[in-house]
Amino acid sequence: MRIAVIGTGGVARTLAGALARKGHDVVLGSRDPQAALARDDVNPQTGTTLAGWSQANPSVRIVPNANAVAHGDTVWNATSGPTSVATLHDAGVADLDGTILLDLTNPIVRSDAAVTLDPIGTDSNGERIQRAFPGVRVVKALNTVTAAVMVDPASLAGGDHTLPICGNDADAKREVSGWLAEWFGWRDVLDIGDLSAARAQEAYLLFWLRLMQTAGGSLVSTKVVR
Ligand SMILES: NC(=O)c1ccc[n+]([C@@H]2O[C@H](COP(=O)([O-])OP(=O)(O)OC[C@H]3O[C@@H](n4cnc5c(N)ncnc54)[C@H](OP(=O)(O)O)[C@@H]3O)[C@@H](O)[C@H]2O)c1
Repeated sequence: MRIAVIGTGGVARTLAGALARKGHDVVLGSRDPQAALARDDVNPQTGTTLAGWSQANPSVRIVPNANAVAHGDTVWNATSGPTSVATLHDAGVADLDGTILLDLTNPIVRSDAAVTLDPIGTDSNGERIQRAFPGVRVVKALNTVTAAVMVDPASLAGGDHTLPICGNDADAKREVSGWLAEWFGWRDVLDIGDLSAARAQEAYLLFWLRLMQTAGGSLVSTKVVR
């Protein structure tokens, strides 16, 4: 499948690398590929610069966001949450019709006092994206675990955990659930409803941060027992 992963951070790289190893035709979208490749910061999740990661993953092309969106049968949004709508708008997502957009963002706002989310409670980034781009079918998933767990749930964080998923389109949710099971090995994907459930799914980040602090690391997750 042709998959466009928008963003070049740790999440985008982790997903793109795993998808490419599964044989998919994956592109990474960047606002400015040359500038991103020239940056010398080492991403803690991949342990490399983007240029180093690119050398190790030569089948994944890094292209301007608009080219990535045009390439993908599906678009995966791994951009910084508060800026997602603007970035996706510049990438031409408004022109898509029926494409599944998998949104895995958290709209994190950091200050000296605390980490919080904006929006929170009465709206969500998933819903903002759906309102801005009514032609795409937004599915929210993967935002509740760290990048490594997204692509290897069976081996990490205890191996038996639940991944919530939500969205307004039942067929799109079924399709994404199938991808996550087949490509990454997710065994317990729990549909928690329409896209308004993204409010809860994003707010979970605040609980997850506490779990991470308590557990002493990011390889922590939850199981819904029912
Ligand atoms: N880190 C995790 O394990 C984790 C887990 C669950 C969910 N998430 C969510 O997944 C998303 C990606 O996470 P990440 O850690 O990979 O984030 P990140 O390092 O902050 O990367 C975000 C990417 O977004 C792109 N971007 C587009 N417009 C931007 C703007 N105006 N300002 C800054 N960056 C912009 C940048 O790529 P270009 O500069 O190349 O355009 C950047 O590489 C976030 O929403 C995060 O909350 C992360």
